[in-house]
Amino acid sequence: MKGLILSGGRGTRLRPITHTSAKQLVPVANKPVLFYAIESLAQAGIDDIGMIIAPETGEEIRAAVGDGTRFGVRVTYIVQDEPAGLAHAVLTAEAFLGADSFVMYLGDNLLQGGISELVERFRANEPDALILLTAVADPQSYGVAELDGDRVVALAEKPAQPRSNLALVGVYMFTAAVHDAARAITPSARGELEITDAIQHLIDAGLRVESHIVRGWWKDTGRLEDVLEANRLILDTIEPRCDGELEDSQLDGRVIVEGGAQLIRSTVRGPAIIGSGARIVDAYIGPYTAIGEGCTIERAEVEHSILLSGCHVHDLDVRIESSLLGRNVTVSRQAQQPRAYRLMVGDNSEIAAP
Ligand code: DAU
Repeated sequence: MKGLILSGGRGTRLRPITHTSAKQLVPVANKPVLFYAIESLAQAGIDDIGMIIAPETGEEIRAAVGDGTRFGVRVTYIVQDEPAGLAHAVLTAEAFLGADSFVMYLGDNLLQGGISELVERFRANEPDALILLTAVADPQSYGVAELDGDRVVALAEKPAQPRSNLALVGVYMFTAAVHDAARAITPSARGELEITDAIQHLIDAGLRVESHIVRGWWKDTGRLEDVLEANRLILDTIEPRCDGELEDSQLDGRVIVEGGAQLIRSTVRGPAIIGSGARIVDAYIGPYTAIGEGCTIERAEVEHSILLSGCHVHDLDVRIESSLLGRNVTVSRQAQQPRAYRLMVGDNSEIAAP
């Protein structure tokens, strides 16, 4: 069985971060979300992985993942010229997939508990497709499945009037029958070849589509609040460890301090992670925060936030909260009068100042 990870697409909902970086590389607990997908496939014994990339962000993904050796897998890159849909991505990968069955994993999805058992079940039951479902509060934002017992009877992509609250999770298992289905469908209203429609085509052709309701948590990290929530969920599971230096500082609860990080007269209240080479001086880092490599936080407070590498946050009299800062962002307050905000921010940024 092969793996197919989808790391193309546009990432419009995470702009401006995704103007300069692939959304699959946004870090969750200081690790790119995409790495969790690769690890999950590797753990299930799937070591031949095709990686769909976009022309714009593909190089960055190649640089981060390499040939897969460090994950114990072999990665083959497949460029998808335009983000024409998940079923289009499958067709783009047809030469790589050949006649093999495969697990398709959306590179911005995080699924607790791995997929090993599901791969086992797929191998044992030999259905034509196995889809993962979970109950959500806003099914109109996802692919939605209608069941009769555990048989899938109908699927709809982001329906205005969902027939159930069961969303399609971004992990699917297919036999090669999906290629013909992907070829048979036409683009949806949003102009994409939807994998949801291809699976519906399998059902209509009388092929066997099984479903599994996931028990653990699942996150599609496409939006800011989802990335923060994923960060919270992962940080809740970390094992505390301190490889950095502490001077007059205190760590409460689950905290990871990476090597080369320095904490001076500061408090970190976990769950939190402080990346290597970070400097935290006269500062407070609150729960559910991931501070990236080489960040500096001085005379400031940060909580429930993700800071990518190289950020510099200093001299703030109000706490930073529920925020995502891109790489090398500086946030500071001018010391002298007149007190004013001085900003240099990219398109589509959001700033909520007191
Ligand atoms: O997250 C689960 C949902 O994912 C499902 O419930 C939906 O049925 C499914 O259509 C999909 O919806 P999204 O609108 O969230 O998909 P998105 O455009 O975010 O793409 C998912 C991943 O696939 C993302 O990592 C980008 C990548 N992608 C996307 C497209 C459209 C590609 O590699 N190529 C593409 O053409």
